[in-house]
Amino acid sequence: MRQAGRYLPNYQKLRRKHSLKCLFTNPELAAEVACLPFEYFSLDAAIVFWDIVLVAEAIGFEVDYIENIGPVAKFTKNRKDIFYLQDTVRKIKKKLQVPLIGFCGGPFTVASYLVDDIKRWIYEKPLELHCLLEELCLASIQILKMQIEAGVNAIQIFESAANILSSSHLEEFSLYYIRKILRSISTLTIVFAKGSCLFQEKLSMLSANALSFDWHYDLLELRRKMPNKILQGNFDPDLLFAPKKMIEKTVVNTLQKMEDDPALIINLGHGIKPHTPLENVKWFVDCVKNFSKCSLRVLS
Ligand code: CP3
Repeated sequence: MRQAGRYLPNYQKLRRKHSLKCLFTNPELAAEVACLPFEYFSLDAAIVFWDIVLVAEAIGFEVDYIENIGPVAKFTKNRKDIFYLQDTVRKIKKKLQVPLIGFCGGPFTVASYLVDDIKRWIYEKPLELHCLLEELCLASIQILKMQIEAGVNAIQIFESAANILSSSHLEEFSLYYIRKILRSISTLTIVFAKGSCLFQEKLSMLSANALSFDWHYDLLELRRKMPNKILQGNFDPDLLFAPKKMIEKTVVNTLQKMEDDPALIINLGHGIKPHTPLENVKWFVDCVKNFSKCSLRVLS
């Protein structure tokens, strides 16, 4: 998750020349950024370079990125065409041979950037919130279809604000819309939710092919509870600040425990942090790759 970003020197170089919004919305630049991690690491898949909040521009918001704050949105009623995303996907597909993951945010998570204090809206104006979520849901389906048409091989839905919801509110304000999206999409689907371990049972009932977990729970336990799902995750992003020996030990222990699980996508349990040492990311990827090679040799 978050392959590209501030921990990469070649990304920082581009960021000094262009605003973040420009990197997201210019297909040429976005495609270049999506490919940057491949200059350092031999990853098995790439992710489109864009941001989940930008879908709001299709329903009348203007989104800006403020340094050290993040995405900020203003309602202007001016609905923008976000067709550039299709161009970005096509350009990345031309540059890279590995499978490409397209994505959108869960409508609830995107809405949490559009309104002040979304938890208050849940209690104070639930109908207005549902109207906004419905609009975001339709726009999300459109942008996913657009990415699929342009060639992505799987899509991932990021519900990063799920952890602030109670179990019944999760059903009503998050999963209801995620189900609607999943029903409209005909490709491999992955759902990530922050707080996913809290809501394992509910998530396991979704029709998504794969579930992406944060680091709070043991992968093997998750596997026992969910024998039929592809699991993605779930290393703690802070592990990449540890000494190399500890990174290696954690990777090897986890993979040994998972015993060549064929339905496991190794990933971090959340986005990579800005000051993560590049060397450690490379070491982490190498440890995973070397372990797979060793175990394949044992198998053959
Ligand atoms: O390789 C990739 O980076 C994939 C592209 C990608 C970005 N954002 C680019 C980005 C993806 C998949 C996202 C998803 C996203 N965006 C989520 C869901 C996943 C998660 O992290 O929980 C959320 C909640 C957002 C909203 C968002 N965008 C925030 C809160 C911020 C600021 C905080 C931060 O981490 O920097 C952004 C900005 C953003 N989106 C950056 C990137 C690379 C930071 C870039 C910079 O400052 O130069």
